[in-house]
Amino acid sequence: MNISQLKKIVIPLLEWYHDNSRKLPWRENKDPYRIWVSEIMLQQTRVEAVIPYYERFMARFPTVEQLAACTDEELFKLWEGLGYYTRASNLKKAAQVISTCYQGQFPTQYNQILGLPGIGVYTAGAIASIAFEQAKAAVDGNVLRVITRLTKDSHDITDGKFRDKVTNALEDSYPQTQRGDFTQSLMELGAVVCVPNGMPRCSSCPLNGFCEAYHSQTQLLYPVKKKKSVRKIEQKTVLILSFQNKIALRKREEKGVLSGMWELPNQEGTWTREQVCQWLAEKGFVANEVKEPSGRRKQLKHIFTHIEWHMTYWMISCNTINIDQDLMWVTKGQLEHKIALPTAFKKIYQAALEENDVYKRIQESS
Ligand code: ADE
Repeated sequence: MNISQLKKIVIPLLEWYHDNSRKLPWRENKDPYRIWVSEIMLQQTRVEAVIPYYERFMARFPTVEQLAACTDEELFKLWEGLGYYTRASNLKKAAQVISTCYQGQFPTQYNQILGLPGIGVYTAGAIASIAFEQAKAAVDGNVLRVITRLTKDSHDITDGKFRDKVTNALEDSYPQTQRGDFTQSLMELGAVVCVPNGMPRCSSCPLNGFCEAYHSQTQLLYPVKKKKSVRKIEQKTVLILSFQNKIALRKREEKGVLSGMWELPNQEGTWTREQVCQWLAEKGFVANEVKEPSGRRKQLKHIFTHIEWHMTYWMISCNTINIDQDLMWVTKGQLEHKIALPTAFKKIYQAALEENDVYKRIQESS
């Protein structure tokens, strides 16, 4: 099949979708607010992982106005574990724009939707078609996989121009009705039939009769993706400082990865015991224990899109601390229930809890 012939897939795909679509919480109605939140959460996160976050978020912020009025603290706590916190910040910023510029009504025009913070062409297309039945496509990696297999197209799918070409070809093929379903049927086929990582389920595919890759048994050659640039590896030394029943946190700079989030104090490089002790001395802290993790827990990794952190950590129990403007001392209760700690640091915190009786005692006493 040629890319100009995509009209042919509409009816078989819609029929398949009606019989096979998954029941998902954001498909219960056409509320643009609900669809928007789901599309933002689903960027970079799997459907199964999103569902419990989505349910909690919607229970807490059932309307745009409630989201617009929330505190960052509560928002980030609800988002904890989903990662890419800028998505959450932008949701709130956009909710405030909708509240002040659109009287709390989600805008209906594609260009207005696209103008909201955190909304790009993919999300604007998804909202315009799913919530407002407009002939707008939402072309993500799933959809590009489906289309390049159907047409045996070897263009690099990370190329924006190619994505635009697919978007235009799809928009020319949109049906007169059920446009939202058409958008979702493409996503759904990519998610459950025309799957990445391994052989797609071509025998269950409503489009197998049209699919060039299936006919030539070359499904795994598509999509063609430019090799990702290798991630930069950064070594970090993380300090878990405890004092009485509290743990020290620090605010990250308002730039770069995890900007403005709370973190466990950490430094570039892999610090020796001497370096840790020197740092404590410079701060005027007196420690009664400076402990490294045992054996296999020595190093923990966390992977971001472009960076990989290789973290070692030290568990430090302080006798005396100085007031330090940089640090905030929190109880375990506050840390777990009030503050959003990014997953990289949660991993360290959890490992330390498992490792060390001191932290178990903190756990019990707070
Ligand atoms: N991935 C992105 N958007 C989606 C949607 N609406 N349903 C299922 N998976 C998706």
